[in-house]
Amino acid sequence: MYIKGNKTNGLTPIVSNWMEQVMDDEGLIKDLIDTYGSPVNLHHLDTFEKNIEDFRDVFESYDLNYQIYYARKANKSKSLVKKALASGIGVDTASFRELEQSLQLGGTGQSLVLTSAIKTREQFVKAIIAGVPVVIDNDDECQLANEIATELGKTAVVGIRISGFEVEGEKLYSRFGFDISEVQQFIDKYIGVGKKYEQLDISGLHFHLDGYSTKQRGKSLSDCIHLANELDENDHNISFIDIGGGILINYLESEREWTEFDKKLKKQVATGEGNLTFSNNGLGYELINGKVERSLKTYPYFNKLNGADFLREVLEFRDPRNNETNASRLKANNYQIRIEPGRSLLKQVGMTVARVAHRKKDAKGQWLVGLEMNMSQMMSSSEDFLLDPYLIYTDNNSEDAEVEVFFTGAYCLERDVLLKRKISLPRLPQIGDHVAFVNTAGYMMHFFETEAHLFNLSANLSFSDSVNLSVSDFIDDEKL
Ligand SMILES: Cc1ncc(COP(=O)(O)O)c(C=O)c1O
Repeated sequence: MYIKGNKTNGLTPIVSNWMEQVMDDEGLIKDLIDTYGSPVNLHHLDTFEKNIEDFRDVFESYDLNYQIYYARKANKSKSLVKKALASGIGVDTASFRELEQSLQLGGTGQSLVLTSAIKTREQFVKAIIAGVPVVIDNDDECQLANEIATELGKTAVVGIRISGFEVEGEKLYSRFGFDISEVQQFIDKYIGVGKKYEQLDISGLHFHLDGYSTKQRGKSLSDCIHLANELDENDHNISFIDIGGGILINYLESEREWTEFDKKLKKQVATGEGNLTFSNNGLGYELINGKVERSLKTYPYFNKLNGADFLREVLEFRDPRNNETNASRLKANNYQIRIEPGRSLLKQVGMTVARVAHRKKDAKGQWLVGLEMNMSQMMSSSEDFLLDPYLIYTDNNSEDAEVEVFFTGAYCLERDVLLKRKISLPRLPQIGDHVAFVNTAGYMMHFFETEAHLFNLSANLSFSDSVNLSVSDFIDDEKL
């Protein structure tokens, strides 16, 4: 039997049918963990494909020339790269190994892009030989790309990363890219035949913004279309504009639960009472001079505007100069619009399941439930994973006796508390029961996973729909 933690006052996650099917099958979960160790990361490939289709539908409804690049940094599994390529979309790579492996899995110059923050010589060599477009961040990268392309007797296809867009009177800071106010001059002066960087063929513009504003993305895209027009007039041949990732997803069933949680957390910070989180952790809120200051340092788990609708808003943004939408200007100019979604393509794709190792009461009388996993196996830049976990009980006959617990992990650190929120359960789990964390594929499983204490990295398994699932339906990523 599986049951959600926090029957009341919770943060109820959106849960897909496949997750329910797996959680409903205690025998399957036990077999998976007996075979692969704890925790296991499960990936549902049909959901990934459906997410791809949803973005495709948006672009097709505007009749746009488009390409979607799955930002694989959000999850390390090869199965998803293979699925992306088989579905006809591309893959955004951000390191030598991401690039090399994506090429080995069938990626090509047409289907891959390289956007690493730091680009080494070996990355450029690999990308230029394979004809993979490289998104260039600065003058030194131009220099290196040009040098290597010359050595190889090739042309390097590049996009130029832009930043510093002005939105509502404010300049958006980023450590990445060329400033929008100077980039045209730079390109005109240095890039192209007969110029300093003549082995570079600039075929596109690129940006990726921090945060989740559709207005900022809309305005930045609008500025890029304008810039592309000006570059084309000066004999460049811009064919694509890539707007990166950052498309919001919604994790939660209820807006009310989300706002209530925020209210209660602030109250806890203000009064020191509430016992909502481990050691009264404010998750970003702090009491300063008697006032609750700063902000919640977590992903915004509830979002009314998300996914395909989020993308539509960016495309519907109107250029203040002529009141035309981005979509109509892209189409009129036949610029290919590109996106690099990571998290949003992984919506509802993954789940992490771990085995209960022990239960204990600490000196404060709190129940701690130790799981066979560590904090790095479910960690992102968000201060806490704000979704209620699911308990998969093996013994379904015991009487209920509600209990409040914290889940703890295997690192020797005091702070290896897997969820900082306290979770109420109908009864204390037994050793060997399982705990499932849903919707963890985007950034949660791998981004910060380490092998401290020589722990094995968790197994990554992928599968497709089947009525009666068994261990053999799950493909171990190591075997791909
Ligand atoms: C250049 C670039 N593209 C795409 C992404 C993917 O973003 P997300 O997973 O939020 O869609 C990132 C994330 O950091 C990025 O830096």
